[in-house]
Amino acid sequence: MFTLHLSASVLVSLLSLSASAPTADDCSQLVQNMTADELPKILGKWILIEVFADDGVFKSMYENIESSWIEFNTTADNQTLLLNSRTRSVPNPHQKDPCVGVPINMTLASGKDLEIYPFDTLPHSKFLRTCPDCLIVHQKDKYQFLQLLGRTQTVAVSDLETFRKQAACLQLPELPVFHYDTNKELCPE
Ligand SMILES: *[C@@H]1O[C@H](CO)[C@@H](O)[C@H](O)[C@H]1NC(C)=O
Ligand SMILES: *[C@@H]1O[C@H](CO)[C@@H](O)[C@H](O)[C@H]1NC(C)=O
Ligand SMILES: *[C@@H]1O[C@H](CO)[C@@H](O)[C@H](O)[C@H]1NC(C)=O
Ligand SMILES: *[C@@H]1O[C@H](CO)[C@@H](O)[C@H](O)[C@H]1NC(C)=O
Repeated sequence: MFTLHLSASVLVSLLSLSASAPTADDCSQLVQNMTADELPKILGKWILIEVFADDGVFKSMYENIESSWIEFNTTADNQTLLLNSRTRSVPNPHQKDPCVGVPINMTLASGKDLEIYPFDTLPHSKFLRTCPDCLIVHQKDKYQFLQLLGRTQTVAVSDLETFRKQAACLQLPELPVFHYDTNKELCPE
């Protein structure tokens, strides 16, 4: 009777532990960089859903953002991707058009992992393996951030939970700096 009770409570505490803090084993499964040959999976349009970041600069930046989408296209040059994006900022009397975004050529790095950068001197972005209709952008330089994007405005709850575990594995703060409120409009193309 006592043993039974003990094992049940141990089980419960293990379960709650695994829900909050992924183990090193979980993390090696959860955090895997996409490889260069997976490039076709990131092409097309994506809507920003949630962001974790470890610096206050990102927090104040994302506080001013209502919605954002990005689009990756291939170009004639197989070392370059064209990144289009449109970001809607919180309404501001000084800004007539709340939607901003300029196309950027992103260079594909030549290593094993899928990795892109706008200029050599700027931080490089990698991508983590995730659900088929999700995209996770990971940038780790002086600061670190992790962005979840989706093909549609929401992802399944289980996919969001997995993303949050991935953020925990990378030691990012517990609270996201951005979560998309689907009542907010997306910028037009
Ligand atoms: C994945 O990329 C990150 C960031 O560059 C790097 O720190 C990490 O070691 C890579 N993981 C593996 C398993 O290569
Ligand atoms: C980029 O790809 C989308 C489809 O994903 C296409 O509609 C669009 O015309 C492309 N843009 C350019 C500049 O090639
Ligand atoms: C890119 O194109 C060049 C020649 O046009 C070719 O030699 C090279 O292997 C290509 N690289 C990739 C990653 O496909
Ligand atoms: C991207 O690079 C191509 C080829 O160098 C160039 O023609 C194009 O104008 C560039 N686009 C942007 C947005 O910088």
